[in-house]
Amino acid sequence: MPDQLDVVAIVGSLRRGSFTRRLVVALSGIAPASMRIEIAEIRGLPLYDQDADDAPPAPWVEFRARVRRADAVLFATPEYNRSVPGALKNAVDVGSRPYGKSVWSGKPAAIISASPGAIGAFGANHHLRQSLVFLDMPTMQQPEAYVGRVDKLVDESGRVTDAATRDFLAGFVTAFERWARSARSAVG
Ligand code: FNR
Repeated sequence: MPDQLDVVAIVGSLRRGSFTRRLVVALSGIAPASMRIEIAEIRGLPLYDQDADDAPPAPWVEFRARVRRADAVLFATPEYNRSVPGALKNAVDVGSRPYGKSVWSGKPAAIISASPGAIGAFGANHHLRQSLVFLDMPTMQQPEAYVGRVDKLVDESGRVTDAATRDFLAGFVTAFERWARSARSAVG
């Protein structure tokens, strides 16, 4: 499809049975054909170390290139101790360097957070939002997406088992496409 929006998704959980990953699989199934959501894996990213900036490890190079190619970024995060998991923060840090060459800069973004708990990883969602301000990513404000009780809402194959949640996710992904396209045209 011409001008299909290329959305790269960063999933903050490394766990095989991750509910957060299931949610992204669900979103990619629900998304209209005018956008494509592809997960960029962060498992193999060595911890960011500024000493390695002169000869960056291959996984950093590949990850940075994938994000650079994308039209927009969808962050999907669980909550670890009221913040984002270290693996996700590391991916954010890797993409942000070397200084002046951040791959995040100007990329339209959205955040969805999820937890089996009731408050849907609100703390992680907003900690991440703080980083995206610094990284100069125009980030969708509404609808906010805090998916609580996620373990009861999306099955192993990424099928949303609750109609209201499915409607909410459809609205979220549609709003994100609109937001990303308008933010992209605003920056030229
Ligand atoms: C958690 N969990 C959790 N949940 C929450 O709602 N708020 C929190 O602060 C935390 N803290 C936390 C810390 C650590 C180290 C772990 C391993 C877990 C529980 C968490 O929501 C649950 O394990 C989810 O299933 C993690 O998301 P994935 O892996 O299913 O995507």
